[in-house]
Amino acid sequence: MNIFEERLSTIRQKLDEWEVDGVLIGSDSNRRWLSGFTGSSGQLLITPDAAIIATDSRYFEQAQNEAPAFTLFKHRRTKEDNQKLFETAGVAKIGVEAQYTTLAAMSQLRKIEGVEWKPLPRTVEPLRQLKTEAELRQIRAAAELTDYTMSQVNQLARPGQTEQELAWELEKTMREAGADTTAFTIIVASGPNSALPHHRPGDRVLTLGDPIIIDMGAQLGGYNSDMTRTFYLGDGPSDQFWQVYNLVLGAQTAVFFHLRPDANCKAVDKVARDIIHNAGHEEHFGHGLGHGVGLDVHEGPRLSPLADEEATLAAGMVVTIEPGVYIPGWGGVRIEDLVVITPTGFRRLSLCPKLPIIPIIPICNS
Ligand code: GLY
Ligand code: MN
Ligand code: MN
Repeated sequence: MNIFEERLSTIRQKLDEWEVDGVLIGSDSNRRWLSGFTGSSGQLLITPDAAIIATDSRYFEQAQNEAPAFTLFKHRRTKEDNQKLFETAGVAKIGVEAQYTTLAAMSQLRKIEGVEWKPLPRTVEPLRQLKTEAELRQIRAAAELTDYTMSQVNQLARPGQTEQELAWELEKTMREAGADTTAFTIIVASGPNSALPHHRPGDRVLTLGDPIIIDMGAQLGGYNSDMTRTFYLGDGPSDQFWQVYNLVLGAQTAVFFHLRPDANCKAVDKVARDIIHNAGHEEHFGHGLGHGVGLDVHEGPRLSPLADEEATLAAGMVVTIEPGVYIPGWGGVRIEDLVVITPTGFRRLSLCPKLPIIPIIPICNS
């Protein structure tokens, strides 16, 4: 059995638990994870006896090549084909992905005769959280590209450059090093903009004395990485910069002592949150401590006050640990590492050092 046949078999075993006769999977990452199909459009219909991939003519050949465990249904995007697809499967009650099925798509599905639909809050997402060795190799390779790109910041960042210019230099570096693409638009947030956790790089000019948050990831073979470092432009960081930097670094380090299988996700978040709150920055750390990373940059598990009470870490999960402190008008510090949970603890996948200073070296014309 190859990995896709194994995943298919696992999903079939879930049908009883979900109280459905079949399941329809149309979201990009779930579809890819289950079938291997990398196209941008298609539906998997899985029942105890059938595994169908329905897609349009742009993808007939690709779907057959990439998803051999599935039978191709050539969908011409007509109502008749829609009806035929579900008649072929011959099942009465089908689960749909509640998080990804739009109202428009649902209203089309409701027109199909003889099928009852059951929204499923989650389908394969919990299974996707546990990475295989092959997935870990991809993520590790994507993390290495991110480490390398971040290591070039000292050479690339300089006063007078705009945030956008630095982001483009970094993107080029990452692509030239081998990334398929970036995992998301690279964040370069300088000076007061670094108080905005997801600032989009703009035309602000980097200036000596700026805190600069750089958050980026590479995508490789569909898998992502995600890492943040905060820098100080110049070699004499202010006392405030060091205070905030060391607080965030201390919060992240404290979390590392709690990462292991069965650790409660909410409790892990609280380790960092308590440290930052107790230092008087309760208002300045609004986002969660971390999230899973894989085919999606943001996937389960979430490490956050909003995590399910009973959610725990498990060996094979890949998560970010990214505490931050954001002070409006001044700036911010975020430090983010990607880690994999192992049977005995965790291993860091982000290995780039955390030296926050970008020295400005004068060019000597002797
Ligand atoms: N780059 C977004 C994040 O760190 O979650
Ligand atoms: Mn990030
Ligand atoms: Mn992240």
